[in-house]
Amino acid sequence: MKDRYGRDIVYLRWSITERCNLQCYYCTLQKEDYSNNPMSLDVIEKLSNIFKRLGFKYVRITGGEPTLRKDLVEVVEIMSERFLQVSLTTNGTLLADISSDLKKAGLSGVNVSLDSVNSERFLKITGRNKLNDVIDGIYAARKAGLSVKLNTVLLKENIEDISDLIDFSLKEKIPVRFIELMPFGNVKKEDFVSQEDAIRRISERYKLESIDEKLGLGPSSYYRVVSKSAEGIIGFIPAITHKFCDSCNKIRISSSGELLPCLAHPDVKVELLDVIDNEVELKERIKKAVELKPFAHKFNYETSSRFSMKRIGG
Ligand code: 5AD
Repeated sequence: MKDRYGRDIVYLRWSITERCNLQCYYCTLQKEDYSNNPMSLDVIEKLSNIFKRLGFKYVRITGGEPTLRKDLVEVVEIMSERFLQVSLTTNGTLLADISSDLKKAGLSGVNVSLDSVNSERFLKITGRNKLNDVIDGIYAARKAGLSVKLNTVLLKENIEDISDLIDFSLKEKIPVRFIELMPFGNVKKEDFVSQEDAIRRISERYKLESIDEKLGLGPSSYYRVVSKSAEGIIGFIPAITHKFCDSCNKIRISSSGELLPCLAHPDVKVELLDVIDNEVELKERIKKAVELKPFAHKFNYETSSRFSMKRIGG
Protein backbone atom coordinates (compact mmCIF):
# COMPACT_ATOMS: atom_id res chain seq x y z
CA MET A 1 0.00 0.00 0.00
CA LYS A 2 1.35 3.43 -0.92
CA ASP A 3 1.11 6.22 1.62
CA ARG A 4 0.50 9.84 0.65
CA TYR A 5 4.24 10.45 0.25
CA GLY A 6 4.63 7.54 -2.17
CA ARG A 7 6.27 5.17 0.31
CA ASP A 8 5.33 1.54 -0.23
CA ILE A 9 4.18 0.21 3.14
CA VAL A 10 4.84 -3.53 3.08
CA TYR A 11 6.47 -4.21 6.45
CA LEU A 12 4.48 -4.93 9.57
CA ARG A 13 6.02 -4.83 13.03
CA TRP A 14 3.75 -6.64 15.38
CA SER A 15 4.00 -6.51 19.17
CA ILE A 16 2.32 -9.66 20.48
CA THR A 17 2.81 -9.02 24.19
CA GLU A 18 4.01 -6.18 26.37
CA ARG A 19 5.29 -8.51 29.08
CA CYS A 20 9.05 -8.87 29.43
CA ASN A 21 11.36 -10.91 31.65
CA LEU A 22 14.09 -8.24 31.64
CA GLN A 23 13.85 -4.75 33.05
CA CYS A 24 16.16 -2.62 30.93
CA TYR A 25 16.16 0.75 32.61
CA TYR A 26 15.53 2.61 29.35
CA CYS A 27 12.50 0.46 28.52
CA THR A 28 10.21 0.07 31.51
CA LEU A 29 6.48 0.50 31.76
CA GLN A 30 4.76 1.88 34.82
CA LYS A 31 2.96 -0.99 36.57
CA GLU A 32 -0.41 0.67 36.09
CA ASP A 33 0.18 0.90 32.34
CA TYR A 34 0.07 -2.86 31.84
CA SER A 35 -3.01 -4.07 30.05
CA ASN A 36 -1.87 -7.70 29.88
CA ASN A 37 -4.51 -8.60 27.39
CA PRO A 38 -2.62 -10.24 24.54
CA MET A 39 -4.18 -10.84 21.16
CA SER A 40 -5.58 -14.34 20.72
CA LEU A 41 -4.39 -16.64 17.92
CA ASP A 42 -7.80 -16.19 16.33
CA VAL A 43 -7.35 -12.41 16.20
CA ILE A 44 -3.79 -12.81 14.90
CA GLU A 45 -5.05 -15.06 12.11
CA LYS A 46 -7.84 -12.67 11.13
CA LEU A 47 -5.50 -9.69 11.04
CA SER A 48 -2.84 -11.65 9.11
CA ASN A 49 -5.41 -12.52 6.42
CA ILE A 50 -6.37 -8.88 5.95
CA PHE A 51 -2.81 -7.55 5.92
CA LYS A 52 -1.79 -10.19 3.42
CA ARG A 53 -4.66 -9.18 1.15
CA LEU A 54 -3.58 -5.56 1.41
CA GLY A 55 -0.13 -6.45 0.07
CA PHE A 56 1.94 -6.61 3.25
CA LYS A 57 4.90 -8.95 2.68
CA TYR A 58 7.12 -8.92 5.74
CA VAL A 59 6.41 -9.27 9.44
CA ARG A 60 8.68 -8.74 12.39
CA ILE A 61 7.27 -10.06 15.66
CA THR A 62 8.20 -7.89 18.63
CA GLY A 63 7.09 -7.17 22.19
CA GLY A 64 7.64 -6.86 25.14
CA GLU A 65 9.37 -10.19 24.90
CA PRO A 66 7.55 -12.36 22.34
CA THR A 67 9.10 -15.65 23.52
CA LEU A 68 7.12 -15.31 26.76
CA ARG A 69 4.04 -16.32 24.83
CA LYS A 70 3.53 -20.05 25.11
CA ASP A 71 1.86 -20.08 21.70
CA LEU A 72 4.68 -18.28 19.85
CA VAL A 73 5.30 -21.27 17.55
CA GLU A 74 1.64 -21.17 16.48
CA VAL A 75 1.86 -17.41 15.96
CA VAL A 76 4.85 -17.94 13.65
CA GLU A 77 3.02 -20.72 11.78
CA ILE A 78 0.01 -18.50 11.15
CA MET A 79 2.15 -15.63 9.92
CA SER A 80 4.61 -17.64 7.84
CA GLU A 81 1.75 -19.28 5.93
CA ARG A 82 0.71 -15.80 4.83
CA PHE A 83 3.81 -13.62 4.53
CA LEU A 84 7.03 -13.87 2.54
CA GLN A 85 9.24 -13.41 5.56
CA VAL A 86 8.61 -13.61 9.29
CA SER A 87 11.31 -12.63 11.75
CA LEU A 88 11.53 -12.02 15.46
CA THR A 89 13.08 -9.43 17.75
CA THR A 90 13.88 -10.96 21.12
CA ASN A 91 16.07 -10.56 24.19
CA GLY A 92 17.26 -14.14 23.54
CA THR A 93 16.87 -15.40 27.12
CA LEU A 94 14.42 -18.14 26.14
CA LEU A 95 15.66 -18.90 22.63
CA ALA A 96 17.74 -21.95 23.53
CA ASP A 97 14.72 -24.21 23.96
CA ILE A 98 12.52 -22.99 21.14
CA SER A 99 14.81 -22.07 18.23
CA SER A 100 14.41 -25.28 16.28
CA ASP A 101 10.61 -25.26 16.71
CA LEU A 102 10.53 -21.65 15.51
CA LYS A 103 12.64 -22.56 12.49
CA LYS A 104 10.31 -25.47 11.65
CA ALA A 105 7.34 -23.11 11.98
CA GLY A 106 8.83 -20.94 9.22
CA LEU A 107 10.72 -18.24 11.09
CA SER A 108 13.54 -16.80 8.99
CA GLY A 109 15.63 -15.02 11.58
CA VAL A 110 16.05 -13.38 14.95
CA ASN A 111 17.42 -10.03 16.05
CA VAL A 112 18.72 -10.51 19.55
CA SER A 113 18.95 -7.44 21.78
CA LEU A 114 22.28 -7.50 23.57
CA ASP A 115 23.60 -4.34 25.22
CA SER A 116 26.68 -5.88 26.82
CA VAL A 117 28.71 -9.12 26.89
CA ASN A 118 30.01 -8.19 30.33
CA SER A 119 27.82 -9.97 32.88
CA GLU A 120 28.01 -7.24 35.52
CA ARG A 121 27.02 -4.55 33.05
CA PHE A 122 24.33 -6.78 31.58
CA LEU A 123 22.85 -7.11 35.07
CA LYS A 124 23.08 -3.37 35.64
CA ILE A 125 21.30 -2.53 32.38
CA THR A 126 18.68 -5.29 32.34
CA GLY A 127 18.16 -5.86 36.07
CA ARG A 128 18.59 -9.61 35.51
CA ASN A 129 21.52 -12.01 35.64
CA LYS A 130 20.78 -13.70 32.32
CA LEU A 131 23.71 -13.03 30.01
CA ASN A 132 24.55 -16.74 29.76
CA ASP A 133 20.98 -17.60 28.77
CA VAL A 134 21.16 -15.00 25.99
CA ILE A 135 24.49 -16.36 24.69
CA ASP A 136 23.08 -19.91 24.75
CA GLY A 137 20.02 -18.60 22.90
CA ILE A 138 22.16 -16.99 20.21
CA TYR A 139 24.10 -20.23 19.63
CA ALA A 140 20.89 -22.27 19.55
CA ALA A 141 19.29 -19.94 17.02
CA ARG A 142 22.30 -20.16 14.76
CA LYS A 143 22.46 -23.94 15.11
CA ALA A 144 18.78 -24.17 14.19
CA GLY A 145 19.56 -22.40 10.91
CA LEU A 146 17.97 -19.06 11.76
CA SER A 147 19.70 -15.93 10.54
CA VAL A 148 20.95 -14.05 13.61
CA LYS A 149 21.77 -10.39 14.15
CA LEU A 150 22.52 -8.50 17.34
CA ASN A 151 20.99 -5.16 18.35
CA THR A 152 22.87 -2.99 20.82
CA VAL A 153 21.43 0.27 22.08
CA LEU A 154 24.22 2.85 22.39
CA LEU A 155 24.32 4.10 25.99
CA LYS A 156 26.80 5.94 28.21
CA GLU A 157 26.48 2.84 30.37
CA ASN A 158 27.78 0.38 27.75
CA ILE A 159 30.12 2.55 25.69
CA GLU A 160 33.12 0.80 27.29
CA ASP A 161 31.72 -2.55 26.11
CA ILE A 162 31.49 -1.74 22.44
CA SER A 163 34.85 -3.35 21.61
CA ASP A 164 33.94 -6.55 23.43
CA LEU A 165 30.64 -6.65 21.55
CA ILE A 166 32.45 -6.15 18.24
CA ASP A 167 35.00 -8.85 19.13
CA PHE A 168 32.15 -11.23 19.96
CA SER A 169 30.42 -10.34 16.71
CA LEU A 170 33.58 -10.88 14.64
CA LYS A 171 34.48 -14.11 16.38
CA GLU A 172 31.01 -15.60 15.97
CA LYS A 173 30.43 -14.00 12.55
CA ILE A 174 27.13 -12.52 13.74
CA PRO A 175 26.56 -8.90 12.68
CA VAL A 176 25.91 -6.36 15.42
CA ARG A 177 23.98 -3.11 14.84
CA PHE A 178 24.30 -0.15 17.16
CA ILE A 179 21.06 1.77 17.70
CA GLU A 180 20.89 5.38 18.82
CA LEU A 181 18.81 5.73 21.96
CA MET A 182 15.37 7.19 21.29
CA PRO A 183 13.52 9.27 23.92
CA PHE A 184 11.04 6.79 25.36
CA GLY A 185 10.09 5.86 28.91
CA ASN A 186 12.81 6.66 31.45
CA VAL A 187 15.42 7.69 28.89
CA LYS A 188 17.53 10.71 29.81
CA LYS A 189 19.52 12.90 27.48
CA GLU A 190 22.67 12.12 29.51
CA ASP A 191 22.35 8.45 28.45
CA PHE A 192 22.60 9.29 24.75
CA VAL A 193 25.62 8.41 22.60
CA SER A 194 25.60 9.36 18.91
CA GLN A 195 26.69 7.20 16.00
CA GLU A 196 29.56 9.66 15.41
CA ASP A 197 30.81 9.26 18.99
CA ALA A 198 30.65 5.49 18.67
CA ILE A 199 32.46 5.51 15.32
CA ARG A 200 35.19 7.70 16.77
CA ARG A 201 35.73 5.24 19.60
CA ILE A 202 35.58 2.17 17.39
CA SER A 203 38.08 3.71 14.96
CA GLU A 204 40.66 3.92 17.76
CA ARG A 205 40.85 0.11 17.78
CA TYR A 206 39.57 -1.08 14.41
CA LYS A 207 39.76 -0.12 10.79
CA LEU A 208 36.29 0.99 9.69
CA GLU A 209 35.07 1.44 6.14
CA SER A 210 31.55 2.40 5.08
CA ILE A 211 29.97 -0.09 2.64
CA ASP A 212 26.82 -0.10 0.50
CA GLU A 213 25.83 -3.63 1.45
CA LYS A 214 22.44 -4.06 3.19
CA LEU A 215 21.54 -6.86 5.56
CA GLY A 216 17.81 -7.24 5.91
CA LEU A 217 15.03 -4.78 5.21
CA GLY A 218 15.68 -2.13 7.83
CA PRO A 219 17.35 1.28 7.81
CA SER A 220 20.83 0.26 9.04
CA SER A 221 23.96 1.51 7.35
CA TYR A 222 26.88 -0.89 7.40
CA TYR A 223 30.62 -0.73 7.86
CA ARG A 224 33.37 -3.26 7.26
CA VAL A 225 35.36 -3.57 10.45
CA VAL A 226 38.84 -5.05 10.61
CA SER A 227 40.64 -5.98 13.83
CA LYS A 228 44.11 -7.48 14.25
CA SER A 229 42.71 -11.00 14.08
CA ALA A 230 39.35 -10.83 12.31
CA GLU A 231 37.03 -8.87 10.10
CA GLY A 232 33.31 -8.56 9.63
CA ILE A 233 30.39 -6.20 9.29
CA ILE A 234 28.77 -3.91 11.84
CA GLY A 235 25.80 -1.60 11.37
CA PHE A 236 24.31 1.57 12.78
CA ILE A 237 20.71 2.67 13.18
CA PRO A 238 21.11 6.40 13.81
CA ALA A 239 17.44 7.18 14.44
CA ILE A 240 18.21 10.53 16.09
CA THR A 241 21.15 12.03 14.21
CA HIS A 242 20.27 10.79 10.70
CA LYS A 243 16.57 10.52 9.98
CA PHE A 244 15.69 7.74 7.57
CA CYS A 245 11.95 8.38 7.53
CA ASP A 246 11.84 8.98 3.76
CA SER A 247 12.53 5.29 3.18
CA CYS A 248 10.30 4.00 5.99
CA ASN A 249 8.16 1.11 4.78
CA LYS A 250 6.71 0.12 8.17
CA ILE A 251 3.56 0.22 10.15
CA ARG A 252 3.13 -1.19 13.66
CA ILE A 253 0.50 -3.18 15.52
CA SER A 254 0.66 -2.56 19.25
CA SER A 255 0.12 -5.36 21.76
CA SER A 256 -3.29 -3.90 22.51
CA GLY A 257 -4.35 -4.06 18.88
CA GLU A 258 -3.87 -0.50 17.67
CA LEU A 259 -2.29 0.29 14.35
CA LEU A 260 0.47 2.90 14.65
CA PRO A 261 1.84 4.35 11.42
CA CYS A 262 4.88 5.91 13.12
CA LEU A 263 6.90 4.91 16.17
CA ALA A 264 7.39 8.54 17.09
CA HIS A 265 3.75 9.65 16.90
CA PRO A 266 1.93 7.40 19.41
CA ASP A 267 -1.05 9.75 19.33
CA VAL A 268 -1.63 8.91 15.64
CA LYS A 269 -3.30 5.51 15.87
CA VAL A 270 -6.25 3.52 14.64
CA GLU A 271 -8.16 0.88 16.63
CA LEU A 272 -8.52 -2.55 15.00
CA LEU A 273 -9.99 -4.98 17.50
CA ASP A 274 -13.46 -3.45 17.81
CA VAL A 275 -14.06 -4.27 14.13
CA ILE A 276 -12.12 -7.53 13.96
CA ASP A 277 -15.07 -9.41 12.41
CA ASN A 278 -15.93 -6.75 9.87
CA GLU A 279 -13.50 -7.15 6.96
CA VAL A 280 -14.69 -4.11 5.06
CA GLU A 281 -14.31 -1.81 8.05
CA LEU A 282 -10.97 -3.38 9.00
CA LYS A 283 -9.57 -2.66 5.56
CA GLU A 284 -10.84 0.92 5.76
CA ARG A 285 -9.16 1.40 9.14
CA ILE A 286 -5.84 0.04 7.86
CA LYS A 287 -6.02 2.27 4.78
CA LYS A 288 -6.75 5.22 7.06
CA ALA A 289 -3.71 4.45 9.23
CA VAL A 290 -1.45 4.22 6.16
CA GLU A 291 -2.90 7.52 4.97
CA LEU A 292 -2.17 9.11 8.35
CA LYS A 293 1.47 8.01 8.31
CA PRO A 294 3.48 11.13 9.19
CA PHE A 295 6.28 12.23 6.90
CA ALA A 296 8.95 12.12 9.57
CA HIS A 297 9.55 11.56 13.23
CA LYS A 298 9.88 14.45 15.65
CA PHE A 299 12.04 12.85 18.31
CA ASN A 300 13.28 15.43 20.70
CA TYR A 301 14.78 14.76 24.12
CA GLU A 302 13.11 17.83 25.60
CA THR A 303 9.60 17.48 24.27
CA SER A 304 8.89 13.86 23.25
CA SER A 305 6.01 12.18 25.04
CA ARG A 306 7.22 9.41 27.28
CA PHE A 307 5.34 6.29 26.35
CA SER A 308 7.19 2.98 26.44
CA MET A 309 8.57 0.83 23.63
CA LYS A 310 7.07 -2.25 25.19
CA ARG A 311 3.58 -1.87 23.90
CA ILE A 312 4.45 -0.72 20.42
CA GLY A 313 7.50 -2.88 19.89
CA GLY A 314 10.97 -1.81 18.92
N1 5AD B 1 15.87 3.58 21.92
C1 5AD B 1 16.43 2.76 21.00
N2 5AD B 1 16.24 1.43 20.98
C2 5AD B 1 15.46 0.90 21.95
N3 5AD B 1 15.09 -0.36 22.19
C3 5AD B 1 14.27 -0.37 23.26
N4 5AD B 1 14.10 0.88 23.73
C4 5AD B 1 14.84 1.69 22.94
C5 5AD B 1 15.08 3.09 22.90
N5 5AD B 1 14.54 3.93 23.80
C6 5AD B 1 15.57 -1.48 21.38
C7 5AD B 1 15.72 -2.77 22.12
C8 5AD B 1 15.65 -3.77 21.00
C9 5AD B 1 14.85 -3.10 19.95
C10 5AD B 1 13.55 -3.76 19.75
O1 5AD B 1 14.63 -1.77 20.38
O2 5AD B 1 16.93 -2.87 22.81
O3 5AD B 1 16.92 -4.11 20.50
